[in-house]
Amino acid sequence: MDITTVGIIGAGTMGNGIAQACAVSGINVVMVDISDAAVTKGIATVSGSLDRLIKKEKITADDKAAAMARIQVSTRYDDLKGAQLVIEAATENYDLKVKIVKQLDAMLAPEVIIASNTSSISITKLAAVTGRADKFIGMHFFNPVPMMALVEIIRGLQTSDATHAAVHAMATALGKTPITVKNAPGFVVNRILVPMINEAFFVLAEGLATPEDIDAGMKLGCNQPIGPLALADMVGLDVCLAVMEVYLSEFGDSKYRACPLLKEMVAAGRLGRKTGQGVYTY
Ligand SMILES: NC(=O)c1ccc[n+]([C@@H]2O[C@H](COP(=O)([O-])OP(=O)(O)OC[C@H]3O[C@@H](n4cnc5c(N)ncnc54)[C@H](O)[C@@H]3O)[C@@H](O)[C@H]2O)c1
Repeated sequence: MDITTVGIIGAGTMGNGIAQACAVSGINVVMVDISDAAVTKGIATVSGSLDRLIKKEKITADDKAAAMARIQVSTRYDDLKGAQLVIEAATENYDLKVKIVKQLDAMLAPEVIIASNTSSISITKLAAVTGRADKFIGMHFFNPVPMMALVEIIRGLQTSDATHAAVHAMATALGKTPITVKNAPGFVVNRILVPMINEAFFVLAEGLATPEDIDAGMKLGCNQPIGPLALADMVGLDVCLAVMEVYLSEFGDSKYRACPLLKEMVAAGRLGRKTGQGVYTY
């Protein structure tokens, strides 16, 4: 299937990043959010991001104009009707995503593929609420989308080979490197990453080393670009804790027990960069 127009639900951090990545690659975009303010903010973010690329001489002003002309913004789902693929990138909430996916399923032509950018909700479960479970798939982009090379493509139990092939080709056309993953909590990257961050909190709590030395150890010994504790501060300690709690309940395996120090810091409101204090002070 040739994907020339992509619909995007949500003009937030991920939605506008996906819109930019598509538009720069020559794909038309219809980006829908619930309010004019949200779509205006989303398109302004794309414009600012493209301006920075012009400054760095990565693109020209003409490239920017062409990309911006490919993005249509709207507050009406009806405007998605010309898309061959619709990527849902709305707020991470199960009930909201079920509502959106049902709404899309009811109005889109039967051959249109629906993808979700969810970080934590089961693709198999979301697919099951539609009448096109074989044409439902996960496309997990990483933040910031224009910079990050990876897309995890998540196959629900029902996803067809044809749907997978179309979405894999589309992610490649965006200049991304897709990896294919079966549906499971955390998919692949966060399944490995977040328990590693949690383990760094255990190491810190046991007083084995200072935060600076733990981070330096993982940077210099494992070639990681950022240490796990500094990364936790970037992601948000509350987000890390919530993810561990999902793994513990979904897998029922005590190896996913959240570190008590992580819980204590979240209880104190030390959530990382966004609150000015986490493991480090900002
Ligand atoms: N932020 C990240 O680092 C990251 C990384 C990978 C995946 N994700 C996932 O991407 C999705 C979006 O996250 P985000 O960080 O962009 O959130 P965000 O809060 O920045 O944006 C969400 C947008 O969805 C809009 N929205 C809410 N209900 C809607 C509806 N019914 N129809 C259309 N739009 C609606 C909101 O108005 C908002 O603009 C989530 O599922 C999240 O788990 C986020």
